[in-house]
Amino acid sequence: WMLMATARAPTNIAVIKYWGKRDETLILPINDSISFTIDPDHLSATTTVAVSPSFQEDRMWLNGKEISLSGGRYQNCLRELRNRAGDFEDKTRGMQIRKEDWKKLHFHIASYNNFPTAAGLASSAAGFACLVFSLAKLMNVNEEIGQLSAIARQGSGSACRSLFGGFVKWTMGNQANGSDSIAVQLVDETHWDELVIIVAVVSSRQKETSSTSGMRESVETSSLLQHRAQAIVPNRILQMEESIKNRDFSSFARLTCADSNQFHAVCLDTSPPIFYMNDTSHRIINIVEKWNQHEGIPQVAYTFDAGPNAVMIARNRKTATLLLQRLLFYFPPSPDHDLNSYVLGDKTI
Ligand code: DP6
Repeated sequence: WMLMATARAPTNIAVIKYWGKRDETLILPINDSISFTIDPDHLSATTTVAVSPSFQEDRMWLNGKEISLSGGRYQNCLRELRNRAGDFEDKTRGMQIRKEDWKKLHFHIASYNNFPTAAGLASSAAGFACLVFSLAKLMNVNEEIGQLSAIARQGSGSACRSLFGGFVKWTMGNQANGSDSIAVQLVDETHWDELVIIVAVVSSRQKETSSTSGMRESVETSSLLQHRAQAIVPNRILQMEESIKNRDFSSFARLTCADSNQFHAVCLDTSPPIFYMNDTSHRIINIVEKWNQHEGIPQVAYTFDAGPNAVMIARNRKTATLLLQRLLFYFPPSPDHDLNSYVLGDKTI
């Protein structure tokens, strides 16, 4: 026999960034963070998990290619889920799996991203959220989503925020075992649905410094990072929660841009410095800043993760169209830059 479960999970983009761990194994952060979850039709992972007594070992394929599950992050997620597995019974087929049996059974896992992993857009968040959710379904894990988020967190920190839609907060928690370092939904995806996300793929090359090693180096060498985590982020989190609740775009945009810029300042403050943005990223920031200044109130917010690609959030659909026109005007197809595609709502141009 064989049992299967399939799930889909989108990626998320942080507007108040997570950067720095206080525990590398459990993946516990040094500050709270807030993100929004992308519509799953665009940037998501789909994972099918199967279990059968004929499987001799746990195996996983990512976009059709087998990858190793020996890393601690995969092992920790699998162990946590097996420990929480429930009884399974299918009377019509006369099948029964008792919770302790899951420890002896093995899984085959196949995961696909609907966007190129090489595009430098966070894929680990969607990947681990999806892996944990599909295995939890298969194994009848009877836990709240918040508790599942604490398992996904042990795969990749940002993954814990992808288990909810809408705007999500990852509370850093203060327990040593990480039990209170979980994601909570602030508002669902219907709360602020006039916002439009545009991703400018500035470079499709794989980033040089991974988030994991980048943040480790920042924790070890940046004094700005400590100041940010202790003196800046706590207040910013409160303000961001207020602006989301009130759909206050001006305050939302100001906080989002400031936090992205501070995160990249921390990267520069790291020794040796880490450069995630490139000239095209900087030009995009200038274009948006000048436009916002000219209008008097912000029309567009921008944020950059550990790479040069710009994620822009437009106030509404009309602003999004104007932004796309502007980007095409400033970046006509040319060999001088490799800005090559924009994702707008349900279209890729
Ligand atoms: C800049 O979650 O990829 O995107 O926990 O080591 O897997 P690990 O790191 P990861 O870091 C994400 C960093 C970020 C900011 C964010 O998403 O909050």
